[in-house]
Amino acid sequence: MDTTRFDDEQFDRAAVALRNTLNGIAITGAGISVESGIPDFRSANGLWSRYNPSEYATMDAFLDNPDKVWNMWYELADTLKGVKPNSAHYALAKLEEMGHVKAVITQNIDALHSHAGSKTVIEYHGNADTMVCPACSRRRGMDLSQRALGAPRCECGGYMKPDVVLFGEIIPEYALKTSERLARGCDVLIVVGTSATVYPAASLPYLAKEGGATVIECNTETTAFTNAVTDIFLQGLAGETLPELVRRVEEANL
Ligand code: APR
Repeated sequence: MDTTRFDDEQFDRAAVALRNTLNGIAITGAGISVESGIPDFRSANGLWSRYNPSEYATMDAFLDNPDKVWNMWYELADTLKGVKPNSAHYALAKLEEMGHVKAVITQNIDALHSHAGSKTVIEYHGNADTMVCPACSRRRGMDLSQRALGAPRCECGGYMKPDVVLFGEIIPEYALKTSERLARGCDVLIVVGTSATVYPAASLPYLAKEGGATVIECNTETTAFTNAVTDIFLQGLAGETLPELVRRVEEANL
């Protein structure tokens, strides 16, 4: 790969920060999975350009018309079929193996961090593997077989819901509290592929900054974080910037 296009000063600063810590964490958004073939939400061809989130991704929308929400979910599930981690996911798993990153907090529901080998992954918005009944809280494996019938039903008569956090739902207690604790206590935070627009996930880099962390942001474009909390901005595709960052950390460790 032609590494001349990387900003040496930024990448070397990021490599030094990571090399000198065993207390780093990563926070990821949909942008890290775009190179695996999963569209993000707010870029030009993102999911929300085809589905208005207020009609398809809120708890009220689900309660009002579960079949409609499942129509979008079935399309999303199709894009998740057979997807594989890309080099950005593997790079974060490598940083965990090297001891520099101790957890990945992801807003994504695609399970690609675990499939890439990351051991400590906090799924802040749930995952696509299970579905839950809001009426009786029963959970079972995701079932796409009934798509012709619309929303899957629960034994209690209620409608099953994908076990992901919809707008208007609270973040699961474990994910919320553990992520806040990790953010407040880390020395280095790598933020990858998120538009910094959805709370409370977007509050985590601010907590890290308040705790004195060095914030490294990897994105194809600047975000609200960039001028507020980011110390080192690595512009580019995560599938290129993160492997380059790992290469420079490894080089220095030789
Ligand atoms: N490499 C790096 N960054 C990328 C790439 C890439 N290949 N492709 C896109 N991006 C960046 C975009 O510039 C954008 O800043 O990733 C970000 C994706 O932003 P969103 O689509 O808003 O996704 P995300 O931030 O994860 O959304 C947060 O909102 O819709 C809800 O619950 C959903 O978890 C999601 C949350």
